[in-house]
Amino acid sequence: MLEARDLKKQFRSGADEQILFEHLNFSAREGEFVVITGRSGSGKSTLLYLLGLLDTPNAGTVSVDGVVGSSLSRHARADLRLLRFGYVFQDYGLMPDLSALDNVMLPLIMRGLSTETARDAALASLTRVGLGDRSSYSPSALSGGQQQRVSIARAIAHNPSYILADEPTANLDSANALQILQMFGTIHQAGTTIVMVTHEKESIALASRILNLEGGRLLESALAQSPSALPGDL
Ligand SMILES: Nc1ncnc2c1ncn2[C@@H]1O[C@H](COP(=O)(O)OP(=O)(O)OP(=O)(O)O)[C@@H](O)[C@H]1O
Ligand SMILES: [Mg+2]
Repeated sequence: MLEARDLKKQFRSGADEQILFEHLNFSAREGEFVVITGRSGSGKSTLLYLLGLLDTPNAGTVSVDGVVGSSLSRHARADLRLLRFGYVFQDYGLMPDLSALDNVMLPLIMRGLSTETARDAALASLTRVGLGDRSSYSPSALSGGQQQRVSIARAIAHNPSYILADEPTANLDSANALQILQMFGTIHQAGTTIVMVTHEKESIALASRILNLEGGRLLESALAQSPSALPGDL
């Protein structure tokens, strides 16, 4: 279970102080596919980074399977991130000078795997996303959709419990976006818990739950309670 309790996040720029949200609660149970929507600037990315222990709240807690992130040392928190989370971002976040294989291998080596084991796992992961034959390519030699598939391969290579995805299809055309979303559907069916920020209606069809972040509040979307309102055949 990924859980946030009484979360507060504020930003200060000069004399201005903006409270993005406070007393915000969130939970994703094992095996859920939670979609977060909301207007630009509502704080979706900020919330996702907090849930992924990539950022620190001003108040409140984020806990991962009962372990409170802020109770851990920096080192232990980094380990928790590396082992339990996979991250997918809108801009792919690949290292431009590394091959697809090396991009997927690098975090595996940071997790302490031997080069050989990391290579095997990275290649298996790239094969899972249909890029086994492109492992030696550098990101610049891959299309946007293929780069996003490499970043998904990197996110799933260590079988994380949680995948956090921030608008993973925002830079893709509709055909590639659909392919990426179907990939998330497959990953979810394999048992991974997914929290995704997105506006794609196709992802809403995959979701177990849809939450809307609006005015600092996270509200269950009516769409999630009305299967007949979901788009058909994904
Ligand atoms: N590091 C920061 N310093 C100051 N303000 C910030 C910082 N990060 C985010 N903000 C502010 O917090 C608000 C929410 O930002 P966030 O990126 O979470 O929104 P979002 O819902 O993801 O928007 P979008 O849909 O455009 O991606 C914005 O007003 C932004 O300017
Ligand atoms: Mg955002």
